[in-house]
Amino acid sequence: MKKVTTASLLAMKQNGEKITVITAYDASFAKLFDEQGIDAILIGDSLGMVLQGQDDTLPVSVDDIVYHTKSVRKGTQRAFVIADMPFMSYASAEQTYHNAGKLMAAGASMVKMEGGSWLADTIRGLNERGVPVCGHLGLTPQSVHVFGGFKVQGRSELQAEKMLEEALQLEQAGMQLLVLECVPTALAQKISRALSIPVIGIGAGADTDGQVLVMHDMLGISANYMPKFSKNYLAQCGDIRSAVTQYIKEVREGHFPDVEHSFN
Ligand code: KIV
Repeated sequence: MKKVTTASLLAMKQNGEKITVITAYDASFAKLFDEQGIDAILIGDSLGMVLQGQDDTLPVSVDDIVYHTKSVRKGTQRAFVIADMPFMSYASAEQTYHNAGKLMAAGASMVKMEGGSWLADTIRGLNERGVPVCGHLGLTPQSVHVFGGFKVQGRSELQAEKMLEEALQLEQAGMQLLVLECVPTALAQKISRALSIPVIGIGAGADTDGQVLVMHDMLGISANYMPKFSKNYLAQCGDIRSAVTQYIKEVREGHFPDVEHSFN
């Protein structure tokens, strides 16, 4: 069994193989997803909503992510482990290095942060210090109050151009993976083709290099609501192991997401 690395994720993009990602927050689910062949596991700050029952991700702390990253790392043998940097934990360079160091020490192999070109220097600095970075553009939930709600991003020509430009700038700065959330399918396809690094979509259509889902959404057990772009694989398959296997299969074969689970 070969561990997934930044190099193998890049090779998957180059070979046209879809990358499968799911969130997990504990060792048991991480082990189950890992055994079924998921490529990467994200300890997302979505845990604020699906584990803690908060209205958004803003109350999540670095210590919360550290705790769950340690648990996920214990359950994971093969999959690549990515940990989210919570709201305001990367507002200054000093803070960023300190907090990213805590997440890497807890067992992450990459940290994820939300935002555009203002993160370029941060990404460069983290790379120089040995920390790979996953970016996150589109609907970045930590900015929900700036957006005025959880809304699809990049629908206007101006917004779309800016997102593409920022993605290219972040790649240039050293970003090694990008999550695109809730953007029109055509824009996600354009960004995925323009970048050399893998682009992972969530509510971004089927033309990205891979997909990520929040595990509670994929199982239809989220405390708050079911996003339009997610699919209840537990209802379809009847047990959790079969549900994740089906999700992996549909992503690899390009059958998920279909138009019903995407945006124009
Ligand atoms: O926090 C999270 O789980 C995420 C995914 C939705 C990509 O950022």
